[in-house]
Amino acid sequence: MEKGKDIGLEFNEFSRNYTNDMIGLAPHYLELVSCFVKYLPVNFNPVSILDLGCGNGNITAQLLPYFPKASYTLVDASAEMIEICRRQFKDFEMEYENKYFREFEFENEKYDLITAGFSLHHCENKEKRSLFKKIFSALKKGGIFSYSDLMISKNNPDHPRVLEEWKNFVNGNFPDGEKWSWVMEHYKAFDRPTDYLLQLEWLKSAGFNNVQFPFKKGYWMYLQAER
Ligand SMILES: C[S@@+](CC[C@H](N)C(=O)[O-])C[C@H]1O[C@@H](n2cnc3c(N)ncnc32)[C@H](O)[C@@H]1O
Repeated sequence: MEKGKDIGLEFNEFSRNYTNDMIGLAPHYLELVSCFVKYLPVNFNPVSILDLGCGNGNITAQLLPYFPKASYTLVDASAEMIEICRRQFKDFEMEYENKYFREFEFENEKYDLITAGFSLHHCENKEKRSLFKKIFSALKKGGIFSYSDLMISKNNPDHPRVLEEWKNFVNGNFPDGEKWSWVMEHYKAFDRPTDYLLQLEWLKSAGFNNVQFPFKKGYWMYLQAER
């Protein structure tokens, strides 16, 4: 890992074989991606959707068949990831923002649905907490924030056990151990996961009133919160 390299550049490299890598590296990846449609309320029909940390577009791609007429805004710090989305979604009207979350202007009450798939664990606690407030304000009343991630802090007593299980998962898929070494380098340099109970508190204090965790396998979780 190059010293001083930022998250956008890191994900430019990761973009080359992103989906296959994620399936082999992140436990429950495909199940967690499917949650973004599976747990939405039956009659929920968003017309305006914001995908935070869109990566190569897996969350948007999950939503598109169900909400083909919605307008989508995709935000990501990685120029390569945004380029992959542009190619993949060329037949759709989409707005792309190659920006960091801190640079993105969250407009008040603009979106029905805001998604964040495996992207907020890159933010420090302070930024996460402030993002929850911005996300709340950017949602229309009745809008939904949906978010999947690893939700355990590095100082949680369960953290060593989670790492051990994660290591077995990755080494089961890539037995030579190189991928696991890469995951741990990336994790140390770029990943700042936070306990789900702390995030629940922050979501409530941002104003969200109905926060649910419909998918939890260990600390690999999907949450949904309503404005
Ligand atoms: C692990 S990928 C997730 C991609 C996709 N959402 C998914 O579920 O597979 C995380 C993405 O978030 C982006 N990202 C991380 N931190 C960011 C930040 N602070 N601002 C903008 N994008 C960020 C990265 O560039 C990367 O493309």
